[in-house]
Amino acid sequence: MSNYICTMDFGSSKITAAVAKAGRKGLSDLHFTMMPSRGIEKGMIVDSAAFSNSIRAVLRNLLGKSGVKIRNIYTNIPAPNVIVKHSRAIIPLAERGNKVVTPSDVMRVNHQAKVLGANLEEEIIHRIPYSYSVDSKEGVLNPLGLYSHKLESDLLLVCGRMSFVQSLSRAVNQAGYEMKGMALSGIAAAEVVFDPLMREGTCVFCDVGSDNTEMLIFRNGSLRHIEILPTGGDDVTMELAKSVDIPAVLAEDIKITHAFAGDCSRIEEDKEVLIKRNNIYKPVKQRQICEVATAKTREICTNIRRTMERTITCGEVDTVIAAGRTIALDGFLETLETILGIPVRQARILNPGIAGMLKGEDILSGQKYMAYITCFGLLRVAYSYEYPSDNGQNPVSGVSGNWMRRASAKIKEIYEEYF
Ligand SMILES: Nc1ncnc2c1ncn2[C@@H]1O[C@H](COP(=O)(O)OP(=O)(O)OP(=O)(O)O)[C@@H](O)[C@H]1O
Ligand SMILES: [Mg+2]
Repeated sequence: MSNYICTMDFGSSKITAAVAKAGRKGLSDLHFTMMPSRGIEKGMIVDSAAFSNSIRAVLRNLLGKSGVKIRNIYTNIPAPNVIVKHSRAIIPLAERGNKVVTPSDVMRVNHQAKVLGANLEEEIIHRIPYSYSVDSKEGVLNPLGLYSHKLESDLLLVCGRMSFVQSLSRAVNQAGYEMKGMALSGIAAAEVVFDPLMREGTCVFCDVGSDNTEMLIFRNGSLRHIEILPTGGDDVTMELAKSVDIPAVLAEDIKITHAFAGDCSRIEEDKEVLIKRNNIYKPVKQRQICEVATAKTREICTNIRRTMERTITCGEVDTVIAAGRTIALDGFLETLETILGIPVRQARILNPGIAGMLKGEDILSGQKYMAYITCFGLLRVAYSYEYPSDNGQNPVSGVSGNWMRRASAKIKEIYEEYF
């Protein structure tokens, strides 16, 4: 029987959904769709019934396109509901002397750290091994095969606020579906936008959405830091609405059609744009629109730089990859490059499994392409949950594979330890 995986990305401005057939050889038969978000604002569910209806509408649309009957879904967890923290644990390896560290020791210490980091108010979504200490030597990335008396683990835990996870689950159930799993949007997106080369050195992935910006810092392919900033493209819209004195919906239109961030003096001082309001046309100076957009864009980018510099200096960064539809604003990427002082690449889907399925998809260009990155990334994460790699452990999520794999790994480990 075919197994299909369905994912949804709940953004504050739009909901995207994708479904693909999953098999041992990977994903195939991809279908996707997008609709404006309802009932979710700034990453919070503000109207559960409207939110459920929009989930139902999006999935009905996807059914129409794919013919696949969907029962359960994997989703992102919107950034404001995410708590990122470290949890540490230590276990003895031998009563006296030293013993070689085995995969089951690593699983045991990580389990211990997970238990210590858990609480009733939070649901652990990802547990990412950060570093290990082997006999008080810190910063060990892979302790397997080393001899030690004790083993200490530092886990990076990405947790969801329990009340949000429960509300989301309920809304999904009310729409007629089941929640199967979750992932942080940035972790999902990074699954499809990095190529092996970018996994070397220090790489920053920055998703600038409507109200939130997620920043993930990777070193040699390992996730080191996650930062969530309460800023995004809607800040530009709201500032335009305030300064030009127009409703937010109009300001959004003006932003997309007339705004850019950059040298505003290139626009003639008297050039006007006509805005229709209450059936009356109101003239607005285009230079004013651009000045507002430029100032707000600079503020967002400065905020990104400040946040990044809390953990690394710009000089240390090898690659910056930007995603999120906010970067479609003319001049946004250039402003970010100028403020960071490093080249910024627009995210592209480089994962061969997903990129291969997108060949010939003409409708997926421009902002539409950007809109689907998280949703396609979620497909990769969900696939790795359902088809875990041979070591039985998903490297990003820390989710372990099925018991058969674990049992055979255990037999191999006992053999290696004693022979
Ligand atoms: N063509 C465009 N030019 C400029 N800005 C745009 C364009 N298209 C969309 N945007 C802006 O991008 C933002 C939405 O980005 P995105 O779709 O990545 O966010 P989201 O995933 O819905 O929200 P979040 O991730 O914050 O929950 C909005 O502020 C919107 O105004
Ligand atoms: Mg988003």
